[in-house]
Amino acid sequence: MAKKVRIDPDLCVGDAICTDIAPDVFYMGDDGIAHVKEGMEMSGDRADVQEAAEQCPGSAIIIE
Ligand code: F3S
Repeated sequence: MAKKVRIDPDLCVGDAICTDIAPDVFYMGDDGIAHVKEGMEMSGDRADVQEAAEQCPGSAIIIE
């Protein structure tokens, strides 16, 4: 079953590693933090999304 991915806005430090690794899932908002693109919320089981979660310096990418 597909896993859900979200960004914790309190933990994101705007490093943009996630948007480099999975640009079709994450984007940087005008608020300087990352967001999950509409319709991509259930992409947490993708290898690149999991890689982004591992590399995120703020551990802001939550997969559940
Ligand atoms: Fe934020 Fe982590 Fe991405 S700090 S911009 S969620 S790599």
